[in-house]
Amino acid sequence: MPIDELVPAACAQIPDFPQEGILFYDVTTLFANSVAFKRSIDELADRFEGTYDIVAGVEARGFLMAAALAYKTGKGVMTVRKAGKLPRETFQAEYTLEYGTAAIEIHKEDIPAGQRVLILDDILATGGTVEAAISLMEQAKLEVAGVGFLMELDGLGGRSKMGDHRVESLSLTTE
Ligand code: PRP
Ligand code: MG
Repeated sequence: MPIDELVPAACAQIPDFPQEGILFYDVTTLFANSVAFKRSIDELADRFEGTYDIVAGVEARGFLMAAALAYKTGKGVMTVRKAGKLPRETFQAEYTLEYGTAAIEIHKEDIPAGQRVLILDDILATGGTVEAAISLMEQAKLEVAGVGFLMELDGLGGRSKMGDHRVESLSLTTE
């Protein structure tokens, strides 16, 4: 099965969650599926081969992808955390949620400037989360090598928030 069909097929699809009319893709079933998980990580490794020095995962589901890809390709992992979790000085970026705002952070001193960072997250929806992650990398003077997703929800404008950065989504859904 091609990867763009395998990814949505491996996700549990929940109609009318979190509200009526929304078809929710739950990636926990993809992570639990040894074949779909490996195919997804291998595909991202192929697409971004040789373009990055470190892999950043966005809390929480992006952590699983970043750890697997970094281990496979012999790189380190950078954790982009929800605000308030990191003990030392941080860069912070806010993003908009359906109600109110949230923020994510990275430690200021953990990564030497100039490294090429590949940012991973499970789903590109409105793009607010990863737009904030890109802003963190820019604050840290890191080069964004690209952004990778398992799934992109088309029609929510997420891709337009990624600027000129290379975006690779393993599957695209309009639902
Ligand atoms: C979900 C998803 C992406 C983000 C996509 O994370 O895992 O990170 O939303 O939405 P966006 O493109 O509109 O920003 P969530 O904030 O639910 O947190 P989690 O990963 O910690 O479960
Ligand atoms: Mg998330």
